[in-house]
Amino acid sequence: MRLSDIDTPAVLIDTAVMERNLARAAEYAREHGLRLRPHIKTHKIPALARRQIELGACGITCAKTTEALAMLSCEPPDLLIAYPVIGAQKIARLIELARRAPVTVSLDSVDAARPIAEAARAAGIEIGVLAEMDVGLRRVGVPPGEPVLDLVLALLRLNGLRWRGLAFYPGHIKTLDESGRAQLGSLREALWSAVSLLKERGLAPEIVSGGSTPLLWESHTLPELNEIRPGTYIFNDRNTVLSGACAPADCAATVLVTVVSTAPDRIIIDGGSKTFSSDRLASSSEATFGEVVGHPLLRFHKMNEEHGFISLNGAPQSFRPGDRLRIVPNHICVAMNLHERVYGIQGDEVTAEWRVEARGKLQ
Ligand SMILES: Cc1ncc(COP(=O)(O)O)c(C=O)c1O
Repeated sequence: MRLSDIDTPAVLIDTAVMERNLARAAEYAREHGLRLRPHIKTHKIPALARRQIELGACGITCAKTTEALAMLSCEPPDLLIAYPVIGAQKIARLIELARRAPVTVSLDSVDAARPIAEAARAAGIEIGVLAEMDVGLRRVGVPPGEPVLDLVLALLRLNGLRWRGLAFYPGHIKTLDESGRAQLGSLREALWSAVSLLKERGLAPEIVSGGSTPLLWESHTLPELNEIRPGTYIFNDRNTVLSGACAPADCAATVLVTVVSTAPDRIIIDGGSKTFSSDRLASSSEATFGEVVGHPLLRFHKMNEEHGFISLNGAPQSFRPGDRLRIVPNHICVAMNLHERVYGIQGDEVTAEWRVEARGKLQ
């Protein structure tokens, strides 16, 4: 099968670039003695998780229990649900998961922990648990310091759970400019103070799990960190390029689209918010939705559900209906969740077709 045989819109993965991204991160983790536990939310494809494990990942990270069930065929040596598991149906699924693979969950309250501990005891199993710290995103997690110590002490009292360490997500650090570097410095101090406090009580954490793709290559500068959970790094996207964590040539995923209409000042493509997601750029006020490969002047500035509006922005009108373009999306993880299947390519050759098994698995 060749590229020209693929119907549009479609996500294409340049497998050589993907393999280079995977190998680079695996090598970095090995070199710095870090456990690599990729977040699979970016690809949601068991075969790609398997590839990450083959290259040395210690396990995988998922957000949701249904997503984790869909990923089990990758045979994860260890599975982290890095999202509070709250509610009877989700806990039942967590128990099902824990019967099939070693499972750890990160959470930030005794209210979240107690029902999981009860269900684990009733099932005669033990579930690993990480105490979630808020290091600046103000999303989930308790503040580092005494609140973390209190949470850990409470977790240790709950039979059915095995406390394994700490988790955090530094999603507030989007670029490593001057202010990003200052935030990284605060993060370093927060980790040091949290881990020191625990060690003073004889509670050295086995795992300190954190990290993101923008901070991937800075992980070794956080001495307490011993497990990293990047997700986006497998493909990268416009946000990753803007964060400074990769070069444009490291973007493995593009969306193949067809021009469906033209006018003197614009072209319309067959992909809008149901193809790309509506995500704006994370660290820029620029209102664009992707970069058109090979056409730096074109501006993909507006979307309806199934239409993408691209302004020619001074470029000559050399397009006709039927022409095909490739676009690097702003945020590949949400785009992947919109597609049933994606294609691996090498040049013009289609070398793989993957079902996005965990797409739409939100519970
Ligand atoms: C809890 C958690 N861990 C890890 C990641 C992976 O980060 P990134 O998308 O920067 O690779 C995310 C991303 O949203 C996350 O929410």
